[in-house]
Amino acid sequence: LDVTKRIENELSAVLTRTELHSGPPGLAAAMRHAVFPGGARVRPRLCISVALACGEEEPGVTDTAAASIELLHCASLVHDDLPCFDNADIRRGRASVHRAFGERLAVLAGDALIVLAFQTLARIGERAPHRLVPMLGIIGRSVGTPFGVVAGQAWECESRISLADYQRAKTGALFAAASMAGAVAAGRDPAPWQKLGELLGEAYQVADDIRDVAAEPEELGKAVGKDAALGRPNAVAQLGMQVAIGRLDFLIAEAIAQIPPCAGAAMMGALIGAEAKRLMPKKLARRAA
Ligand code: IPE
Ligand code: IPE
Ligand code: MG
Ligand code: MG
Repeated sequence: LDVTKRIENELSAVLTRTELHSGPPGLAAAMRHAVFPGGARVRPRLCISVALACGEEEPGVTDTAAASIELLHCASLVHDDLPCFDNADIRRGRASVHRAFGERLAVLAGDALIVLAFQTLARIGERAPHRLVPMLGIIGRSVGTPFGVVAGQAWECESRISLADYQRAKTGALFAAASMAGAVAAGRDPAPWQKLGELLGEAYQVADDIRDVAAEPEELGKAVGKDAALGRPNAVAQLGMQVAIGRLDFLIAEAIAQIPPCAGAAMMGALIGAEAKRLMPKKLARRAA
């Protein structure tokens, strides 16, 4: 089974399980809208790639962890798009969840997806109880406070923020969790995989900042120019476009250099290089060529 199929199958199974029990239909529809069709699925792909690079033994455990990380990411986007945060109408090329279902269901769909992510993760205990405890610690830390997504979003409510702390928490932490969870799923020590995930997450957010300035909305499936309009700290405003691009290249090179020794190290390096290419806005890629 290829990686994309593994991710979509697992997410689909998780959401279908919740729908088998009767609940408010609008909430179920809003949750499904937040998860399908997906975006780049970059965090679960990272998780599975690390597990494969480490010599995966129990794909079921990897897939469960990968899906729970993607559910947390989807929840963070639902809340991030709300009028009280980024007030975004379009996500993944269609109406954001609150535009399609209203604000109340969007808040609740985000909440329910977070809970569902941990319920999903808990199922690892049925197959591999010894992997559940490290998994819960790693993933919980990456979405809460002081180091995770919630803390990252809360930095926006402060008058003084460090760009690096903000980006590391809002984006880097979940990438680090994805790579560490992949190692745990494969029965490896997660510690050597933390740095790689952190660097990739920071690179990904710098790339997102560049795309917000230099890409077309059709390319991204979401509005552009929002960071400047909202006054969000971002790499382009802080460094200028040229230096931001240089920083992105540096972070990618650094990430590739941090891949721990393992059977799939060369494969990981190639994947990261290809992903970095995909992220460059068409306009800038043409200019560089
Ligand atoms: C968007 O994440 C938010 C950021 C952290 C930049 P993605 O770019 O991974 O969003 P999807 O899942 O592909 O839509
Ligand atoms: C969102 O960052 C990060 C989250 C934790 C949700 P952005 O606000 O830059 O992401 P987009 O541009 O809305 O996708
Ligand atoms: Mg935001
Ligand atoms: Mg946003």
